[in-house]
Amino acid sequence: MARYAFQLNGRAASVESWDPGQPLLYLLRNQLGLHGPKFGCGLAQCGACTVLIDGKTSRSCITPIRQAAGRTITTLEGLGTPEKPDTIQAAFIAEQAAQCGYCTNGMIMAAKALLAATPHPTEEQVKQGLAGNLCRCGTHTRILRSVLRAARV
Ligand code: FES
Ligand code: FES
Repeated sequence: MARYAFQLNGRAASVESWDPGQPLLYLLRNQLGLHGPKFGCGLAQCGACTVLIDGKTSRSCITPIRQAAGRTITTLEGLGTPEKPDTIQAAFIAEQAAQCGYCTNGMIMAAKALLAATPHPTEEQVKQGLAGNLCRCGTHTRILRSVLRAARV
C-alpha cells in the first residue's frame, strides 16, 4: 500500500492506495469524504468529476492518483461554504442554476478556471469554456447567466 500526499483545499492531505492507477475521484469521495466531485460517465466525457489541479480543470475520473501526488488540488468544497459561498457558487444560487444538480460541480469548477484566466468573458467565451461540461437537464441558459453574473461581481 502506498501513500500519496498532496495539498487539498489549502491543507496537506494524503490517501492510501494499492493501485497507482486508481482514479483520484474514487479516493476523494471514498477516503476523504469529498462528495462535490461526481461520478458521471467515468470516461472524461461529461465533466461531472471536475476538480482543479494546479489551477487547471482536470477530470478526476481518469486522473490516476500517482499523477495527483505532490500537486495542489481544489475541489468544490475548497471554494466556499453554505454560509459564505464563493462568488460563482453565490451566482448559481441567485440564478437557481440547477435542476438535478449532478452537473453543477463540474460547471462551477470549469467556471472557476475560466474566470481565473478570463475575468470578464463574453457570452461566447463562457459557452466555449463550459463546452466540455454536459447538463442533461437543459439548465444551460441559467448556468450561462450565473457565470456572467459572477464575472460582474
Ligand atoms: S465522470 Fe469524469 S468526465 Fe464524466
Ligand atoms: S442540472 Fe441536472 S445535469 Fe445539469
